[in-house]
Amino acid sequence: MEIRSFGVVGAGQMGSGIAQVAAASGLDVVMSDINDDCTARGVQSIEKNLQRSVDKGKLDQETCRAIRGRISTTTRLTDLAGVDFVVEAAVEMEELKFGLFRELDTVCPDHVILATNTSSIPIGRIGAQTKRPEKVIGMHFMNPVPVMKLVEVIRGLRTSEETFALTWSLSERFGKTPAEAGDYPGFLANRILMPMINEAIFCLYQGVGKPEDIDTVMKLGMNHPMGPLALADLIGLDTCLAIMETLYDGFKDSKYRPCPLLRKYVEAGWFGRKSGRGFYQY
Ligand code: CAA
Repeated sequence: MEIRSFGVVGAGQMGSGIAQVAAASGLDVVMSDINDDCTARGVQSIEKNLQRSVDKGKLDQETCRAIRGRISTTTRLTDLAGVDFVVEAAVEMEELKFGLFRELDTVCPDHVILATNTSSIPIGRIGAQTKRPEKVIGMHFMNPVPVMKLVEVIRGLRTSEETFALTWSLSERFGKTPAEAGDYPGFLANRILMPMINEAIFCLYQGVGKPEDIDTVMKLGMNHPMGPLALADLIGLDTCLAIMETLYDGFKDSKYRPCPLLRKYVEAGWFGRKSGRGFYQY
């Protein structure tokens, strides 16, 4: 099946990034969110990224205009009825995603693949909300989407081979390198990354190091492009907490216990870069 048009649910930092790479690969994109402010912020972020590439001479003005021209926005999920492939990139809340998949299942024609960018919720559980579990799959992008080369592809127990193959090749069309992960909480990326970030937060909580020192250790000692606390601020502390809770609930293993300091920051509204304050001030 040839994919020509692409729907994205959610215009946040992940959704808008996915819309950008899809449009850059030549697809017509419909990006939806709950209100005009959210879609406008998503479009603004895409335009900023594209303009930065133009300013650096990596993209010409005409291509930039063409990419932008392929992206339309909506606040109605029913406007995704005509697209060939959907990726859901809403916030990491299980009930919300379940509701979206139930709705997408009624809105989209039967042949359409419904992918989720969930960072940790089991694909099988999301697929079971629909009448097409064989067409539900995990397509997990990394933040910032336009820069990071990986897409984790996760099939649920009932995902078909055809759905998997199409999602894999679409990831490649987006200029990404796909890797397959099993359908267990956190898949591969977050199963490995989040405990490291959580441990860095425990180091801060227990006074073993200051944020700058913790991050310097991992940046210069392990050649990570950014330290774990700065990365947590980039990902969003609410997302980090949600992923740790999914790991903790899913495995019932105390090694995934979210650090109390992480919870405290989230409860206080310190979500990282997006709220202006996390482990650092922005
Ligand atoms: N959106 C788009 N492009 C961005 C960007 C953003 N938010 N931030 C940086 N870039 C681009 C820059 O424009 C620049 O592009 P060019 O190479 O074309 O010039 C490039 O990225 C490098 O940026 P900078 O020179 O400004 O800064 P840097 O070299 O420090 O790189 C970084 C920034 C790419 C974010 C780098 O620090 C990095 O790779 N950090 C780690 C990111 C990471 O681990 N992401 C995974 C998070 S986990 C996840 O996403 C999964 C999950 O479910 C939570």
